[in-house]
Amino acid sequence: MLTRGMSPVLKWAGGKTQLLEALKPKVPQAYNRYFEPFIGAGAFLLSLEPKSAIINDTNEQLINLYKQIKHSPSEIISIVNSLDEVACDKEYYYKNRELYNHKIASKVLDPECAALMIWINKHCFNGLYRVNSKGLFNVPYNNKVTGKSLDKDNVEAISGYLNDQDVTILCSDFEQACEDVVSGDFVYFDSPYVPESDSADFTDYTKTGFSYEDHERLANLFRRLDKLGAYVMLSNNDVPLVRDLYKEYKIESLDVKRLINRNAAKRSGKEVLITNYQ
Ligand SMILES: C[S@@+](CC[C@H](N)C(=O)[O-])C[C@H]1O[C@@H](n2cnc3c(N)ncnc32)[C@H](O)[C@@H]1O
Repeated sequence: MLTRGMSPVLKWAGGKTQLLEALKPKVPQAYNRYFEPFIGAGAFLLSLEPKSAIINDTNEQLINLYKQIKHSPSEIISIVNSLDEVACDKEYYYKNRELYNHKIASKVLDPECAALMIWINKHCFNGLYRVNSKGLFNVPYNNKVTGKSLDKDNVEAISGYLNDQDVTILCSDFEQACEDVVSGDFVYFDSPYVPESDSADFTDYTKTGFSYEDHERLANLFRRLDKLGAYVMLSNNDVPLVRDLYKEYKIESLDVKRLINRNAAKRSGKEVLITNYQ
């Protein structure tokens, strides 16, 4: 089958592009709807191109980006291209970051907010997405001066996909996003990860909004979906806590390179892929 050749428009922590070849053979041979409750940059969705999908994330700006790509691709392309026309320096970066934060603070979810998110992702340190306690984006400039922040054909291909197929875009907690899952649906969970090091303090992680209790809640949901007959697949770090939470399921280990880590030595590691089916 001819594919649309889509790829993520954002660099995103935990992005699955490098794992696609490992993940694809694990997809059930036949399934009904596809659910991805932690969509992030959507590498897996865009490579699978399911005909019927429910995608979700708690990040409002990210979900706005999917909605704007669906409804207003040409506006996004033109705004990003005009942002790219100016050689970026520190002042220009912080001016655009301020404009983006103004949109966040005033809850303006429009094509410009989506375009700024794309442009900032290419000009901020390591493509990180981090907000302060007020929800304002606070990643510093990466010193990148010029270059294209967006691939027009890719944005148009994603827009075509979101319009031609039955894709529901939600912005809620992962449990709510899975309320409609029924037997025969396929659910892929790629939540924020459990910290890699055993000594890592979980309170650090609550800052990113995903606590130990959330991981337990996710494991309980995994079990519920398993019992009702859905195909469930989950990625996480290969750490004892994760192996313990999912000990009754099939657990496979994968080698990964981490694109987003300040420390070069920590840019490789092990992840697990957990499924409730063979
Ligand atoms: C590891 S990333 C997913 C990466 C994605 N697979 C990709 O290829 O880019 C986890 C995502 O979960 C989202 N998230 C965090 N807490 C959530 C929650 N309670 N419910 C739904 N999404 C959540 C984050 O905003 C983030 O985008």
